Amino acid sequence: MHTISDYQGYFLEYLSQKNKTKEPKNLYEPISYILNLGGKRLRPTLVLMASEIFGSSYEKALDAALAIEVFHNFSLIHDDIMDDAPLRRGKETVHERWDINTGILSGDAMLINAYQLFESYEGDTFRELAKLFTKTAIEVCEGQQYDIDFETRDDVTIPEYLKMIEYKTAVLVGAAMQMGAIIAEASENCRESIYDFGRLLGLAFQLQDDYLDAFGNPETFGKQVGGDIIENKKTFLYLKALEYASKDEQKQLEGLFSLSPEDPTEKIHTVKSLFESTGAKDRTRSEIEKYTEEAFAVLDELSIADEKKQLLKLFGENLMNRSV
Ligand code: IPE
Ligand code: IPE
Ligand code: MG
Ligand code: MG
Ligand code: MG
Repeated sequence: MHTISDYQGYFLEYLSQKNKTKEPKNLYEPISYILNLGGKRLRPTLVLMASEIFGSSYEKALDAALAIEVFHNFSLIHDDIMDDAPLRRGKETVHERWDINTGILSGDAMLINAYQLFESYEGDTFRELAKLFTKTAIEVCEGQQYDIDFETRDDVTIPEYLKMIEYKTAVLVGAAMQMGAIIAEASENCRESIYDFGRLLGLAFQLQDDYLDAFGNPETFGKQVGGDIIENKKTFLYLKALEYASKDEQKQLEGLFSLSPEDPTEKIHTVKSLFESTGAKDRTRSEIEKYTEEAFAVLDELSIADEKKQLLKLFGENLMNRSV
């Protein structure tokens, strides 16, 4: 086994070998741009880690790791169009720097390229990776559609929200881990447990993403702070604030979330105050911890060495304490 930062390093090295711009430039430059913008590289790191945890090498998992990261970055280009987001990783989003059509087509090419990367695997491994990837990619689309549908609904429930974030975010984290297990030919049992670990960590991760969207530090966050409030996203913060609010506050919140003012400064300020005063902010933090703990509980069932469990725990703890 290696350290988490070793795995990140191996991935980055591989990415820099593989990520070359070709003609036509307007198709490939945005791809290089987004892939070189940085990011935490969580998902590919998890693919490599899982492969070694279940007894294979990280080298064998590099193409699957790249496929997952390319897919993730494709989903970000399209997500930023759908969310009308100006900033990604501290830089202009692809559709801002180029235009929407460029974002659509470069994104499409990335999705296809992600599939193509699985061609390096053969036999059962190929079939199982492709099957998992297809199922996951479809779920991400479903989750993204729920996310958009919820913007204009005022009766979204917490279970609906949880299903939405499971699909748009958590299943990809689960799939990243399961891909490592597939490459290592781990038992069915191990494959399912590690998927579940990733899925639960992914739920905690999206809750934290929502939290940071409102309460992150604008200097370091790298995305537009308050973007979810501007877009009337039905986040956990919002749904809990509604639940805990007085009747008057509920009316105020619902009113604010039916508007899209030209200058959103005031709206963001008021909504954040309500997230705090109602206790929704604190509740979101404890929910992040809850899902992280649930993920750790799944590790106990896994028959892998303690040292490997510790590495996965460390990864989960780092996620919970992140500020980006
Ligand atoms: C952002 O993912 C999209 C979500 C699913 C919340 P990350 O926070 O992993 O983005 P990068 O790759 O590190 O920029
Ligand atoms: C994005 O969720 C999930 C996917 C890209 C599939 P968000 O819209 O919350 O992600 P950010 O906050 O823009 O990174
Ligand atoms: Mg977004
Ligand atoms: Mg989105
Ligand atoms: Mg977000």
